[in-house]
Amino acid sequence: MLHFPVLLEESIGFLVHNKHGVYLDCTFGRGGHSRLILKTLSNKGILSAFDKDPDAINYANQEISDSRFQIIQQSFNKIDSVFKNNSLDGILFDLGTCSTHFDDKSRGFSFNDDGPLDMRFDFSSGEPLSKWINNASEEEIKEVLFKYGQEKNAKSIAKAICTNRKVDEINRTSQLSKIILSVSSAKYSKIHPATKSFQAFRIFINDELTQLEEALLRAKEAVRVGGRIVVISFHSLEDSIVKNSFKPEIESLPKEIPLNPIIKKDFDCLAKKIRPSSDEIDKNKRSRSAIMRVFEKIS
Ligand SMILES: C[S@@+](CC[C@H](N)C(=O)[O-])C[C@H]1O[C@@H](n2cnc3c(N)ncnc32)[C@H](O)[C@@H]1O
Repeated sequence: MLHFPVLLEESIGFLVHNKHGVYLDCTFGRGGHSRLILKTLSNKGILSAFDKDPDAINYANQEISDSRFQIIQQSFNKIDSVFKNNSLDGILFDLGTCSTHFDDKSRGFSFNDDGPLDMRFDFSSGEPLSKWINNASEEEIKEVLFKYGQEKNAKSIAKAICTNRKVDEINRTSQLSKIILSVSSAKYSKIHPATKSFQAFRIFINDELTQLEEALLRAKEAVRVGGRIVVISFHSLEDSIVKNSFKPEIESLPKEIPLNPIIKKDFDCLAKKIRPSSDEIDKNKRSRSAIMRVFEKIS
């Protein structure tokens, strides 16, 4: 299946405010957003793109040949290793997974297909989920399910994982999804009972939330005044990090100074909680949970 870029026109409409500017797409994926950025930029504009996933890098190298474009295999929390402070006109984050991750069974993201239990965006470094899940304590597994999946059934799923792995190591997505199903009370709900657990394990194994927090700090430094940061997130954990990262800072003053606290505001919020239209959701179900926020640097 193709990857349909979410909130495409809306996000690039906000992002590219200067056609001759310098932009960064932090999550290239299959380049849906990057292509429209390139189309919108003049021949003086420049676009760099990051992705952690070696498959995305190969795809970009094969499919996009444009002297204004470069692809870099890099995690987005390392913006500062490539770009100086105040050097970019806009940065885009389109978080989470691509449809292509689910289509490729060998990546281990899908509970519907059998594949090795991996789930790393960058499969060339770190360890697959199977390694962790066969060694973590029941308490650690429960914590991950609860913290990153808000899974109410976290305790019984963690227990079932630990009981089952004594008999057989859990190395396949189908094993994990069967174990979750066996203790699920919601077998007949519209959402597959393994949805939240798979989300939780993916967020954990890729350290997604910490990397997002760090990335937004770096992005705020890297854009110049007038520059924009556009973030499309797909669940409330991501969205609250985005919202909190742009809250104005309150400078604390010594108690003896009888003034109201000084509020330091570096960014204006240009758009909050933009959601896909019903047309877009009809065409692309994955877009239904998307939330976009847009910020502009003012000082
Ligand atoms: C939703 S997809 C982006 C889709 C893209 N906008 C398009 O239209 O094709 C998210 C991408 O971000 C990548 N990604 C996830 N975490 C990352 C990180 N910390 N640094 C860089 N890329 C990351 C994933 O590998 C995935 O390809």
